[in-house]
Amino acid sequence: PPGAERFIPDDARSLDDLRRAAPGCRGCELYEDATQVVFGRGAADARIVMVGEQPGDIEDTHGLPFVGPAGRVLRRAVDAAGIDPAVLYITNAVKHFRFVRRGQRRIHQTPEQQHITACRPWLVSEFALLRPEVVVVLGATAAKALLGPSFRVTRQRGQVLSWPGAAQHPDDFRVAPVEGGVEVPPAKLVATIHPSAVLRADDQDIAFNGLVDDLKVVASLVR
Ligand code: URA
Ligand code: SF4
Repeated sequence: PPGAERFIPDDARSLDDLRRAAPGCRGCELYEDATQVVFGRGAADARIVMVGEQPGDIEDTHGLPFVGPAGRVLRRAVDAAGIDPAVLYITNAVKHFRFVRRGQRRIHQTPEQQHITACRPWLVSEFALLRPEVVVVLGATAAKALLGPSFRVTRQRGQVLSWPGAAQHPDDFRVAPVEGGVEVPPAKLVATIHPSAVLRADDQDIAFNGLVDDLKVVASLVR
């Protein structure tokens, strides 16, 4: 069957075990054109896991999530919300860069549901090992991965939800393909806009402040 599941080692005991296996993933076609897989990074004992969309051009080049312009916005917002970066782990719903070439440029393309579904076993495995207290959904793609296609970030942003309870099909998340079929532990979940939406907004200050307000809700959950 397509999807990442069969590339995840059954005996993965650590994030490094997952990180070592991820470059071998052929769970969808996105590995073909991307430079490299971009796995999550952060504290192994993180209390908060933030989930973005997919690596961008710069992340694809460097092999690390959120090191480009969206990452700069995210770091500023985390700081303004009073979240200690040491309690964070940051990852993406889809772990290879999806793009089209226009001359020398590589233009970001939003991943489709099939890519999100194919890649989700990595995300679920990260959660099973990290056991975060709070999950932060950054934008619509992460929401599709974790909550289902009918979730609307604009309608429910900044609310404290339960995960995977709030997902459309919470059973999809129950058994992670890591050792012993570990259950994904329940967590609080807060959805907000993607930091790149701040860069595209007509009024960047308003958009940024909205992101910070949602992240302040997150900060209040880990005090
Ligand atoms: N946007 C994302 O969603 N993730 C990244 O890692 C970079 C930009
Ligand atoms: Fe595997 Fe995800 Fe990359 Fe597709 S995007 S090849 S599922 S790691």
